[in-house]
Amino acid sequence: MYTDLKGKVVAITGASSGLGKAMALRFGQEQAKVVINYFNNEKDAQSVKEEVQKAGGEAVAVQGDVTKEEDVKNIVQTAVKEFGTLDIMINNAGVENPVPSHEMPLNDWNKVISTNLTGAFLGSREAIKYYVENNIKGNVINMSSVHEMIPWPLFVHYAASKGGIKLMTETLALEYAPKGIRVNNIGPGAINTPINAEKFADPVQKKDVESMIPMGYIGEPEEIAAVAVWLASKESSYVTGITLFADGGMTKYPSFQAGRG
Ligand code: BGC
Repeated sequence: MYTDLKGKVVAITGASSGLGKAMALRFGQEQAKVVINYFNNEKDAQSVKEEVQKAGGEAVAVQGDVTKEEDVKNIVQTAVKEFGTLDIMINNAGVENPVPSHEMPLNDWNKVISTNLTGAFLGSREAIKYYVENNIKGNVINMSSVHEMIPWPLFVHYAASKGGIKLMTETLALEYAPKGIRVNNIGPGAINTPINAEKFADPVQKKDVESMIPMGYIGEPEEIAAVAVWLASKESSYVTGITLFADGGMTKYPSFQAGRG
């Protein structure tokens, strides 16, 4: 538990499922006030809201498309209207779909870049604007991926979006460090979330992914939420501009294990 998170206001995009949901619940356990943004699954967002409240936090759900400027502004405004301020912005909403790069429709490229990268930019910009205008030493956490460093065939749009997030976060961290605003990334590896459900339901594909993880297992969303609360808390007060990989070692060249090479 991080006692300084009690009563803090955190907005999380894409929080009706997956990593966003796990983070919302963990912040609830920390007795924070959570703005749960969702795109189209109102029912799930409402149940996340109830779970956050049950866990000891306060919560509100707000619909919004992170690719739309007005919607992202509304997420920050909802935090301020409902809970009086914003302390932590978590840009988590993300999408992916496999397509050979030479056949990738522009629509697929645009959808992934605008959700994962532009969405994270808009969320960062609106949160930082609020922090600067109100003299708040706020916190921004962006959901990156191991694919900010590992190239990913069939997912060129996704890898490009996460590579973009890496330098976006580093740039924002540098630009706003003098104001005490911290900006960091989380870089999850393969995690048990709906985005991966189909893949991991197939035992062959699951085993194949596990073989790429030195720790030997697919991570749980709670293991990512644990990183998020640490990055949001004052325990990480001197940390800015990093990507904290939580990937069971996936980024550490697993093919070289046991002295191969
Ligand atoms: C993707 C997952 C993938 C993992 C490891 C994540 O960023 O969302 O689908 O399994 O990276 O490749």
